[in-house]
Amino acid sequence: MTDRFLISLSPFVRLVEDPPGQFSFQVKKVNLPLVKPGPGLLAAVQRLAGEGATERQLDSLVSSRDGAFALFKLHFYLDELADQGWLCHAVRIDRERLATSIPIHRDHRFEGEPVRKDERCLLSRFACCRREGDRLVLESPLSRAQVVLHSWRATALAAGLAVPRTYGELAAAVAGITVETARLFVQLLKNAGFLTPALEDGAAAEDRQPSLVQWEFHDLFFHSRSREGRHANPYGGVDRFRGKAERPPLVKQKMSSDVVELYRPDLERLRKTDVSFTEALESRRSKRKHGPRLITDKELGEFLFRCAAVREILPARDAHITRRVYPGGGAAYELDLYLVVNQCRNLRSGLYQYYPLEHQLCRLSERTMEVEWLLENASYTARTDPPQILILISARFQRVTWRYGSMAYATILKNIGGLYQTMYLVATAMGLAPCALGGGHSDMFARATGIDYYEETSVGEFMLGAG
Ligand SMILES: Cc1cc2nc3c(=O)[nH]c(=O)nc-3n(C[C@H](O)[C@H](O)[C@H](O)COP(=O)(O)O)c2cc1C
Repeated sequence: MTDRFLISLSPFVRLVEDPPGQFSFQVKKVNLPLVKPGPGLLAAVQRLAGEGATERQLDSLVSSRDGAFALFKLHFYLDELADQGWLCHAVRIDRERLATSIPIHRDHRFEGEPVRKDERCLLSRFACCRREGDRLVLESPLSRAQVVLHSWRATALAAGLAVPRTYGELAAAVAGITVETARLFVQLLKNAGFLTPALEDGAAAEDRQPSLVQWEFHDLFFHSRSREGRHANPYGGVDRFRGKAERPPLVKQKMSSDVVELYRPDLERLRKTDVSFTEALESRRSKRKHGPRLITDKELGEFLFRCAAVREILPARDAHITRRVYPGGGAAYELDLYLVVNQCRNLRSGLYQYYPLEHQLCRLSERTMEVEWLLENASYTARTDPPQILILISARFQRVTWRYGSMAYATILKNIGGLYQTMYLVATAMGLAPCALGGGHSDMFARATGIDYYEETSVGEFMLGAG
């Protein structure tokens, strides 16, 4: 039963008249023509495109002007629009909208399933409320719709569903809300996929669902928004900020003039003498214990050159790209390396930036408190002594976010995987001890380097030493 809801066209859909007298519904390149509408049907779709109407009001508009037979046509179009995910449903209070459910993917269908009087439900733990433009919206990775909360009463109702309630109990808990309004609000959220039933013992049903219970809110939200299927946001290489913001440079500039030239290996010689690819692949292991021998500056230079130095700068579509040995989504190469040198032969300990274009280290600081903390944190993460070298991998986010819609951060994490494996294989080929780390302290990195957290901060950590 949906006849108490206000139906309207989704804000993403336009009712277009082109040429005069010919109407169609349009979203981007998708077009649904309105074939020979009578005056009643035309008035009905104009209401849909405007303030909206209930199904009963639409029926009456059409049957009073075009005759009862034309209702078939109205319902054909309502079904088509619903199938495309182009219809919104709203609950009103005092003639104003209280909440509107807007499909954000065409697979969303508002079925209008009713809510029983004795049915207790609560807001899904995956629902989140945030400001989008000048509206407050509820979103959830479990849903293919977004619910706009138009007024404080809607937010009060949503807050009332933080605990299990029937719609009658909800009405009693929120001042100025009738039982009928609470019923429609609960029905709207239920059909939009934001509620979970309360079980007899008061637990949320979704918390007993084995496939859901281990998902953290942020992981599932990130997963659903960085993959296709549950939203219609711009996706892929859409050049989001072209013409609006400068893309950060190909390679980050040197952060200090205190520069250490690094050893460059002879790649031609290595092509002939290096261990075989299969040998490196098959013998690769994570090694967390370093020493007693110290890694040398020459080994560190060779390692960095083989993993991360820029090989070439090449012209591309409208800019330049760098070529490196590890793959990188869109050749953005947003990842940068910073080194905490704990113990290394012929290299002063402290914090360094790796400059991959000229294969140099730029010294940033002594062993400050923050640098010590980063080392301690790595040793705690790997349950071992502080590593000889801790490599902090940062991302210059705007290299990727400038171009990619929806998948930017996910792409960065995938790129780290490519770099990690490259580091592992090079370290193995060189007889060094490598170990990737699964977490680190990005704020501490920001404090140690003085870099703006939102512009660039650490997204990966890697320990290296002599085995
Ligand atoms: C993304 C990633 C995160 C990791 N995080 C940690 C970590 O935090 N601490 C640790 O000691 N090892 C960590 N490792 C190493 C894994 O434990 C190791 O790769 C795994 O046990 C398989 O062993 P192997 O690398 O020796 O084949 C990580 C590896 C990867 C790829």
